[in-house]
Amino acid sequence: MRLIVFFSNQVSEGMSVVAKEMAEQSLDAQIRLMQTGDRLQHLIYTQQLTRGLLDTIFDTADKARNLNASRMGATFLKECLPNQRALLYFMQPSTRTFLSFHSAASLLGMSCVHITSPGSSSEVKGESPLDSVQTFAMYNDLLVIRHPEADFAAKCVERLMQSEVSKHIISAGSGMEQHPTQGILDVYTLQREFSRKGGVDGRRVLIVGDLARGRAARAFIYLLALYQDVQIDLASPESMKITDDLREYLERRNVTFRESDFMDDFIGEADAIYMTRIQDEYDDKFPVGDVDYDLYSLSRDRLSMMKGNCSILHPLPRRKEIPVFVDRDPRSRYWEQVENGMWARVALIAHILNCDLRIRTA
Ligand code: MLT
Repeated sequence: MRLIVFFSNQVSEGMSVVAKEMAEQSLDAQIRLMQTGDRLQHLIYTQQLTRGLLDTIFDTADKARNLNASRMGATFLKECLPNQRALLYFMQPSTRTFLSFHSAASLLGMSCVHITSPGSSSEVKGESPLDSVQTFAMYNDLLVIRHPEADFAAKCVERLMQSEVSKHIISAGSGMEQHPTQGILDVYTLQREFSRKGGVDGRRVLIVGDLARGRAARAFIYLLALYQDVQIDLASPESMKITDDLREYLERRNVTFRESDFMDDFIGEADAIYMTRIQDEYDDKFPVGDVDYDLYSLSRDRLSMMKGNCSILHPLPRRKEIPVFVDRDPRSRYWEQVENGMWARVALIAHILNCDLRIRTA
């Protein structure tokens, strides 16, 4: 079983009061330290997000999208954060998350640079990754970090607090554990889909595939649990079932959920289906054995078993779990997710850097 990530819990002399407090605290207390009032200063854990905050982020995202449709509105957006700088520090591959953060920062008028390999920073000369991150924070207001280690982004926040550097960090994917911005865009997609049909509350959502190692599915589950009477069905092979901590999280929140080895058990009842790929980059550390992934893939037969108005989501990249012919099915929503990701990230950056109210009231 994996544990929820905590800060290093090492208290040393010379730490600031806030940093000491941070290192000694539970996840709840860390979450409180990472925000000022209702405003997030960093986003590391999906559990930092509340229903109210999601609703505000979705409003900002819709408003920014509408503004950008006119030249005047686009200019207004560009003037929101003109003197702010973002750095994307991506130590794992990425297409959509990288490009959508880059575009989001540019839409808000930020300048944006990136480091995508330790070989292009002083880490090749033996600098520690945390020293590198502290250096990045000297030149930039916002660091967006993707890293294979589950607790790396949290350690970076801890380091900035110890050093009393008040810059902001967003996790763009932390190992198998966290992908909070993917969760935001996935729920944003559902919210847009169901906005004229009563919203996300009360929906039945089927999540399929590698649920043990997929951080996107994990983030989606955390956020779905914030909605009223949502029912979650989970279909995966035995070796890829959700981890105990997530199961306990759902039980604590009284979320109704069912698990099965077969997606066919649930497919006919779902209002939305979230497909995921096999996360085999983690095979060395977390082997799952041989799996017949056809059982967790959409076929013409399965499409015919689905409700006529069921939405098909996928965080992408896809493999054979969604054949290309499904793109033409009117229920597919995964290409919309790609675009929604950019607007959700515009809204999140605007929230953290405190210009979201200006956008919502423009
Ligand atoms: C991720 O980075 O987790 C992606 O968004 C989903 C995936 O890689 O399957």
